[in-house]
Amino acid sequence: MKSRQRLYINIDHVATVRQARHGEEPVPVHAVALCERAGADGITAHLREDRRHMQDADIEAIAAAVTSVFNLEMACTDEMIALAERLRPYQVTLVPERREEITTEGGLDVAGGAARIGPALRRLSKAGIRTSLFIDADRPSISRSHDLGADSIELHTGRYAQAPHDPGTIAALQEGAALGVSLGLAVHAGHGLTTANVGPVAAIPEIEELNIGHHVISRAIFVGIERAIHELRAAMDAASTSP
Ligand code: PXP
Repeated sequence: MKSRQRLYINIDHVATVRQARHGEEPVPVHAVALCERAGADGITAHLREDRRHMQDADIEAIAAAVTSVFNLEMACTDEMIALAERLRPYQVTLVPERREEITTEGGLDVAGGAARIGPALRRLSKAGIRTSLFIDADRPSISRSHDLGADSIELHTGRYAQAPHDPGTIAALQEGAALGVSLGLAVHAGHGLTTANVGPVAAIPEIEELNIGHHVISRAIFVGIERAIHELRAAMDAASTSP
């Protein structure tokens, strides 16, 4: 029997609400204990270069408050790698960043960025940090991630989330996850997942970890963050135990 799929909650959008007023509330680190109490296996936060949601002080506070594990999402830049070396989160997920995008719209260009990504992975590993690359579920990106020495890959589920009934979108994730595991990579997934669409992704046995943010914070506005996480966890569990 496969082990239980981990759920990491991305709390970036607590900061998005605060930044809408450039004020003081809500405080992102206050979400950490609530998420953990509701069953989150890890906490994820993304310090973007443009600081549009999380600020440096938020990341410091979150790194100190997490009692589960902290997954720091960041671009592959010297500034961010130096920050990770100092904070030593459990895991770093390297993501692409373009300033004009609304969110992380596609996976890393692993081939084009190899000269930067390879040395970054080595620096992070040397600091004792697990590494993950956020990539599209295509064969070249997955095998390149393995060649560069990543511990894990996070498959971008955005295409699936936009067209969940297109059999090609879930098939790409199933095939990508199987390829990743066959190469010895740990496989994660995330982006655009919700209680309504998480089932088929949660049912992919090779996927160990999901990173989910926007839906949880959106739902939390109406039912609170703990109930939002319970609902999501229940949807994942129902999918992974169904025949
Ligand atoms: N995984 C990664 C690498 C991301 O960049 C994001 C978005 O910040 C997520 C997961 C979560 O996506 P969403 O907020 O749509 O659940």
